[in-house]
Amino acid sequence: MLSVLFIDGDSQALEDLRSALRPRRSEWDVSFVGTGAEALERLGPLEVDVVVSELDLADMSGIDLMKQIKGEHPEIVRILASRGLAEEHFLEAMSVAHRYVEKPYQPGEVGDVIASGTFLRDLLDGSRVLQFTANVTSFPSRPGIYAQILEESRSATSSLERVGAIVSHDPAMTAKVLQLVNSAHFGLSKTITSPEEAAVVMGLDAVKSLVVSLETFGQLRPGKECGVDPERLWDHSMRVASLARTIARLEGEPRDVVEDSFLAGMLHDAGKLVLGMNMPDRLIAAIRISGKFNLPGNELERRVIGVSHAQIGAYIFSIWGLPMTVVEAIAWHHEPSLSSRRGFCELTALHAADGIEKALAIDTIETVEAFLDMDYLSSIGLAERLPAWVEACREALGEEDDVEDAA
Ligand SMILES: [Fe+2]
Ligand SMILES: [Fe+2]
Repeated sequence: MLSVLFIDGDSQALEDLRSALRPRRSEWDVSFVGTGAEALERLGPLEVDVVVSELDLADMSGIDLMKQIKGEHPEIVRILASRGLAEEHFLEAMSVAHRYVEKPYQPGEVGDVIASGTFLRDLLDGSRVLQFTANVTSFPSRPGIYAQILEESRSATSSLERVGAIVSHDPAMTAKVLQLVNSAHFGLSKTITSPEEAAVVMGLDAVKSLVVSLETFGQLRPGKECGVDPERLWDHSMRVASLARTIARLEGEPRDVVEDSFLAGMLHDAGKLVLGMNMPDRLIAAIRISGKFNLPGNELERRVIGVSHAQIGAYIFSIWGLPMTVVEAIAWHHEPSLSSRRGFCELTALHAADGIEKALAIDTIETVEAFLDMDYLSSIGLAERLPAWVEACREALGEEDDVEDAA
């Protein structure tokens, strides 16, 4: 049973939450208090797994409360709630809280945030991700356009045209979306000329994926000599996204899994840019040593920097509120066996696509198994699907090259 403590002075909000969360009472033991002092009193004797606190409490700030809880009970998952969080407070809030949730509370969303918060705690366990993020100077903020599109897609009267219209307010984003939607990656037969049309043709999920990755890569522009080449990384990410979608489709997965596999592919290595921007010397050292010791890059990053690009990427995108299936896929893309997910999922598509893309890039497809965790694929009963995936990926990339050659 998961024990959750809500701290909020707004008794009506707590009352609404109490009745909305009633269906969860077999899984969660939920309690409510109104002030920081009451919360600290409760935390002593009570076994609490998760705290959700309002930012503006009557007796202290939610950030100070989180700091205190972090110091005294570091194992508790800390979630901050507020009606809008100013960008300047975001970094400080995220250095003491695992997650942030917008008010008014939406019960479904609160449930997801709590579930992802416990996942994050497990992911960060023993690592230095939080310490790392407390010291970073270039931390990508939540994309503004993405937030607007999420809001639009939640409204009862949402429409794809309006989603396209939101994109069209940003000329640079419009140019990138049109360039991408008309590129071979999307395989459309006609040329799309407006973001509204792009949104209708691509669907909401694909537009969201594109906006998130364009904004992420746009914000993270490290200079030279940081251990990462943004152009190459973007290219690798687009190819992996396209292959992850190809594999998920081949397995007959539903549309949301196909789209989330694509999104996971686009974002899976974005954590490298965060490392490169904030700790270029250590990242370059990790890369240099990896050649000498023949250790996987992810493992070396953890040893040299304290966190891996997979962990930092998963952490950031979890804070941004991306689907947990995408966050988990990013978190475990180099170590899928560590995930608790079984059967085909976005992680499977991403892990396979990443390995196959690397093998195809250096033309060693015969040794593709060296790039993959074959024990993981065997454990979920899918190792024998590998040749079919490789074939489909080779075809997908071949088609792209043909279109690019003709262009
Ligand atoms: Fe990676
Ligand atoms: Fe990768």
